Amino acid sequence: MTDTAPAVVGDRNEHGYRSFRLGEFTFDRDEYFAHVAWPSGKDVLSIDAFLRALQRDVAWGFFYGVVNFDAVIGTVNHYGEVDLFAGSFNESYRGAGLDYVERFPHEDIHAAFQAILDDWTIEGFDPFAAPEETGSPWGDKQGSNTKAVTRRRVTAKRMVGVPGDEVPRSDATGHPVNRMFADVPQDEPDVEPEPGFEEEVCGFNLFAYLSRSDVTWNPSVVSVCEDSLYCPTTEEFILPIIHGNDRVEWFVQLSDQIEWVVADKETNALRARVTMKAGDVAAMPADIRHQGFSPKRSMLLVWENGSAALPRMIAEGRAPTYPVDF
Ligand code: PHB
Ligand code: FE
Repeated sequence: MTDTAPAVVGDRNEHGYRSFRLGEFTFDRDEYFAHVAWPSGKDVLSIDAFLRALQRDVAWGFFYGVVNFDAVIGTVNHYGEVDLFAGSFNESYRGAGLDYVERFPHEDIHAAFQAILDDWTIEGFDPFAAPEETGSPWGDKQGSNTKAVTRRRVTAKRMVGVPGDEVPRSDATGHPVNRMFADVPQDEPDVEPEPGFEEEVCGFNLFAYLSRSDVTWNPSVVSVCEDSLYCPTTEEFILPIIHGNDRVEWFVQLSDQIEWVVADKETNALRARVTMKAGDVAAMPADIRHQGFSPKRSMLLVWENGSAALPRMIAEGRAPTYPVDF
């Protein structure tokens, strides 16, 4: 934790963990649970689920729209400022007047969340890894895993596949093919550029590239064309957050299968269960929240429209919550 971080850091409790305060919110952990409290209520979350959600929120810089940790607490990204809320997207809490929200500068809540994540993640547990590929998060404080919780996405220096991209994606760079993608062919495409264009006309095997990803539920920008962002990711077990969209997202299921539970963004009323099999394409509307379940590690292409104007246009009814009229 840096000196300038805004969270008030408390003493270590009998389990060896620090307590934190951010605004009127307090955070405590014990052997199995994260305890979050605010002036009008409190919440308890399994520590594995809490750390997996916190890891995504920190690493994604609060993502697009709403990141629900469960049906009660979460964050809303206002792109520069961030709301930390309790019950704001839960009809019962709102109806009972129990909802509570505080807004923080992005850097302040980011530093606080990073500090909690670092203190509460013990040796051997990696919140980005699939459960079968990591150690246990349970018990009293023992060591830490700062390397895992401060992991940065690999950044390509040039478009992936172009000479000089500097993307590590081989056994030699410590990126072996994942156990569940052992059957994914590793051959690269034949590209025959005209003389003089060898450095610019390139291709790469996206399946081979993804087969070497060592993290789950972490969409990464692989191509950019103005506001069109291709963000493929490899998924296993449960999406650790419940994402409340502030724009339409397209999903292209590249391999295997994911079950999506889709609910109303504001109330949490269940709206749909979507089973996506390899080759299926779905548009997730801008007025929903969703959580994915992937029994076997799978590949998913998340296609985002990164336009900064979209959330406001949708909120004001100047753009629809769905992508196309047929
Ligand atoms: C999403 O909420 O749209 C989302 C988040 C993370 C993923 C996939 C989809 O890995
Ligand atoms: Fe989403």
